[in-house]
Amino acid sequence: MQLIDGKALAKKVQDSVSTGVEQLKQEKNIVPGLAVLLIGDDPASHSYVKMKAKACEKVGFYSITHNMPDTISQDEIIATIEMMNNNPRIDGILVQLPLPKHVDTDKILEVIDPTKDVDGFHPYNVGRLVTGLDGFVACTPLGVMKMFEEYNIDLKSKDVCVVGASNIVGKPMASLLLNAEATVTVTHIFTKDLKTHTSKADIVVVGVGVPGLIKEDMVKDGAIVIDIGINRREDGSLVGDVDFANVSAKCSYITPVPGGVGPMTIAMLLSNTLKAAKGRI
Ligand code: GUN
Repeated sequence: MQLIDGKALAKKVQDSVSTGVEQLKQEKNIVPGLAVLLIGDDPASHSYVKMKAKACEKVGFYSITHNMPDTISQDEIIATIEMMNNNPRIDGILVQLPLPKHVDTDKILEVIDPTKDVDGFHPYNVGRLVTGLDGFVACTPLGVMKMFEEYNIDLKSKDVCVVGASNIVGKPMASLLLNAEATVTVTHIFTKDLKTHTSKADIVVVGVGVPGLIKEDMVKDGAIVIDIGINRREDGSLVGDVDFANVSAKCSYITPVPGGVGPMTIAMLLSNTLKAAKGRI
């Protein structure tokens, strides 16, 4: 069994972004800028945004966080996004999800200029991904693809089971895998018998937020298991969606939690923001 070291790979991506930022500064006098909108006081969101801001600082980006109370109106959020769309110093706009209940998330995401949509959530970029065209791709699934590439894991003709069908993870993950010529099965909360699907797969990618969902008897010998889940236990420790202690013994490759996919999400956000800045006219 080999561990896929997301922390080390994220550092590698971050170093290459730092180099790209230096070049952009020297050659075109451009400093990539990221604006983050953080609405409400969800502790997990605050912690993620803090990590994102710190990462931006490390690679030499200009970054601003708009911190808004959860009583803010949808129109005020839209006005802030429009301001960022028109701000020439801002290359990337990220609205941290989830949003408060009174806000229509789909409507908010559609206001973001697709050329600044570094989260890849705008329907324009989702459509380009599905069609196999270049655009911005959601950071977590993009980070998983980077892991496959780094470890020379060939996806062509592999049977891959994606567990979870969210817009943020499962659906873009499935599109990327399909574009890489894998045979993809997407399972979700209404899937009749999850084990039937996971146990046939060469690769299982799971991101649902259910601690220990994937058990030893649900994966085949030699499987590759990618755990996107980040669940906080009562004692404050983090666990994934995979019962790592028992599943890992059967795997050829597996990602740990923490230190697996998590750090890749932020690394790919940096990479997407640099890409947006390079596209600045
Ligand atoms: N909430 C959970 N994951 C993400 C993400 O990748 N981007 C944003 N904007 N919000 C999230």
